[in-house]
Parts: sequence; C-alpha cells; structure tokens
Amino acid sequence: MNGLHIKRNHRKTLNLAMAAGLLVTFGLMPVAAFAQGMMGGMNMMHGADVKLVQQQGDYRPLRIPAILEPDETIGNARHYTLIMDEGQTEFREGAQTATLGYNGSYLGPTLVLRKGEDIKVTLRNQMEEETTVHWHGVLVPSNADGGPHQVVNPGAERDVKFNVKQEAATLWYHPHTMGKTAEQVYGGLAGFILLKDDNELSQGLPGEYGVDDVPLVVQDRSFTQDMQFDFPGSYNADGTLGDTLLVNGTIHAAFDVTTELLRLRLLNGSNARIYDFELSDGRPFLQIASDGGLLNEPVKMQSVRLTPGERAEIMVSLKGMNQGEYLDLTSGNTTVLRLNVAGVLKPNGNVPVTLNQLAAAADNGTVDRRFVLFGMGAMVSINGDVFDMKRVDETGIANQDEIWEIYNRPDMMGGMLHSFHLHGTQFRVLTREGVLPPLNERGWKDTVALDPGERVRILVRFVEPGLFMYHCHILEHEDNGMMGQIEITAK
Ligand code: C2O
Ligand code: CU
Ligand code: CU
Repeated sequence: MNGLHIKRNHRKTLNLAMAAGLLVTFGLMPVAAFAQGMMGGMNMMHGADVKLVQQQGDYRPLRIPAILEPDETIGNARHYTLIMDEGQTEFREGAQTATLGYNGSYLGPTLVLRKGEDIKVTLRNQMEEETTVHWHGVLVPSNADGGPHQVVNPGAERDVKFNVKQEAATLWYHPHTMGKTAEQVYGGLAGFILLKDDNELSQGLPGEYGVDDVPLVVQDRSFTQDMQFDFPGSYNADGTLGDTLLVNGTIHAAFDVTTELLRLRLLNGSNARIYDFELSDGRPFLQIASDGGLLNEPVKMQSVRLTPGERAEIMVSLKGMNQGEYLDLTSGNTTVLRLNVAGVLKPNGNVPVTLNQLAAAADNGTVDRRFVLFGMGAMVSINGDVFDMKRVDETGIANQDEIWEIYNRPDMMGGMLHSFHLHGTQFRVLTREGVLPPLNERGWKDTVALDPGERVRILVRFVEPGLFMYHCHILEHEDNGMMGQIEITAK
C-alpha cells in the first residue's frame, strides 16, 4: 500500500485505551468505551446504527493492493512471506493514523494463486501482540487454517503449507486471534487471495488486475479528532460500526475506468456493517461469482447484499459512456466508489452465458446437524454454548455430505442478523425458510446471512481431517464467543 510505513514505539490509540481500561468480563469491552457508550446515550441494544457520512470534496484515487511476488518459485511450489506489523497510514492528507498491515502499513498484498500449486507462506509477526493468519474460504489442512489455536507470537515466525485444491474464487486472509479478531481487523489486517483455474481463465472474463479486474475491500471506520482509529470509543459488542467508508483503505475513492466492462470483486471486510451495493443510476449488473467461485450463470441484479465476510464478483457495463461521465457504486445513500470514465472505453469482451458446471446441490430433505444462533452483545451463543478453545463441539467425517440447519433464534427484542461462516470447506445453500435460495446464492458459499427467525439449510462436505471453526462473522460476536469447533476425522 502507498501509506508511509513508520515503526511506532507504542500503539497509540488502540492499545493505550485497551490496556488502560479494565476489561469487563462480558464482552472484553473496555470500561471506558462502555461508560462512554452509555453516557453518550448510545443504544446498546442491537441494531444501534451509526450512519455513514457522505464525504465531500475531491475524490482520492482508489488504492490497489500490490500483488505479492513469491520469494521463490520451484516448479509448482511457491514460497511467500507475510509480515504483520504496526505502521502509520495517511488516510487524509497531512494526518497519520496508527494502523496494522501485512507487508505495509494498512491491509495486505494480494496473493494470486493457481489451482494445483503448492504454497508455503512464512508468517512473521513484528507486532507487539500475538496474532494468527486465517485463510478465509481456502480449503487448507486444519494445521494451516490459522484459527485461534495457531498463534504467531510477537517476534515469532510460522510457516504454513497448503496445496491449492479448489476452483477460481475471490478469498481473503485476516487474523483470528482469540478475543482480538475485531480489533486487529479494524486496525488493518486483511488481504485478498485470488484463486485462478483453467475454467475461469478460459472464459475471457476481464482479468487485468487493477485495470478491469478490481478487488474492493469495503470497510467502515471511526476516527478520533486527531485522525486515529476510534475502535475503543465506537466499540459495540453487537458489532463496531464506523461513520467513514474506506475502500482498499481509501476514503472517498474514485477509480478511472478504461474498459467497457468492469469486474469488481467485492469483499465486505467490515467488522459488522452490511452493504447493499447498487449502481447510482439504477442500472443492473451481473453477479458472476459468490464466496467460493463462479456461479453457473451470471445473475442479473439491481442490488447485492453482502454481510461481513461475504464476497461477490460483479460485472458492470459502462459501454456507451463518454469521457468525463461517471457512475457511482453505492450502498444506501452513500457513495462507495466513483467510477470515472477516463477516456474512450476499450471493448474487453463479453460475459459468457455459462460460467461454471456445478451440479445441483442434492437435497434429500433431511437435517444431520442443527445450529441455533442466539443472543446479542456479549451474551451470544451457538447451541447454547460460548466458545471454549478446549472444547470440541461437534465431530464429523471427511468426504461425507451432511446437511446442516442453522436457525437464528429471535430474542425478546427481535434479534439481529448473524452471518454464519464455516472454515475448511465451501458449502451450498439448500434452502432459506424451506425454499430455494436466490439465484446468486446457488454457487459455493462459506458465509451465509441469517435474518432473525430465519432457518437456512446448507450442504456441507469437509475434505480435510482436523479441527475447524464455525462462527458468526460479525467480529465482535466471534470474539464474544459466538463460535464453535468441529473435529473432522478421515474416513
Ligand atoms: Cu473470515 Cu473464521 O473467519
Ligand atoms: Cu474463515
Ligand atoms: Cu452474530
């Protein structure tokens, strides 16, 4: 990233407040933040809303995360290094914000991997606190998964290895540190993984990174008066929301479009905010991929909802637009990204009518396992339990289809949306409230949103033995224990 990288002596905003405050046992919420929340009249019930501020003035050029070059390539094997560190990032001109990043001050480089490759990643933690690196959506062995058990201590290094076994998809990596995931992601630890395979490469889809194939991680943050991330001050046990939108770490971002078709890889990398992405003139777009890969056919959409952790690849057509014109990607009333037509748009292909060949997900109408999501704030649970690293909640067998029913049990105040994420596999959504899911949810998924009272059935098949997490991807819920683990044994 193009932020300055200055080593800090002390974590300013984030950690002083965390260390100074006693940690309230429920929710690990700093007392100061709790008191401030109450005194400020901030609603501690769910759905406490923080509105996004529509930025004014000049747009900033959208930052594009660099592609990570391997340290070494031997045949099919590639070795990468990711360094987790503290830094300073300039989000607004003339102001430095203390941030966290991989190989840079904020966010991380993009890993572009190909099906079949043997990947080794050296993880080096130069931060002052422990962390883990989780490969969200990647089918990795459990010892490489980067869940809360696989800590990389400050100053330490850890190598992880996996073979890329799955099809082309937009995936991501982020920390999964026990009780600290929300704070570390908020600080800036997140990056893209773009998987490629022959099928995807043969489709003629726009694929020039940062030109007509653009990754967009959308996040919301709150800043203090002196432009520091205000995680403690805006902390909410039901999910910390910010009033400022960042796309790839850019506030008020614009992108210069040079092609008729634009492939946007949307990632909701926010702790808790939900986005309904639309185009400002109401024109439809095509969704071509969900979390884990290409859909069988493009799905025409006016709006796509992404809850925390979810991804969608969309194709936007700007054909016929002229230099100087623009189109905005929006959510609600807020501009997410301005798309400026930068010249005569170059033709760059069509979207094929068939993208993938996924078999229809087989549904025999049964349920093999049930999960009840319940609670709010610090009192969240799955099947009545709060996460315990030492407790295995479920056991299962690899290479066997299972149908899971997930139920978001409402509470007396109605309840709130949870986004259920499962490690170690990609699943298929069979039903929502007994009926087939919308067309854009019929491909591979690893995260699925459940409204209060909603029941979703998914088809799950683990490929690797080992221990895998499932949890709510509202990061504060995850940290508060809305998480469980399943131990998979080889058949
Ligand atoms: Cu993206 Cu277990 O998380
Ligand atoms: Cu994950
Ligand atoms: Cu939740």
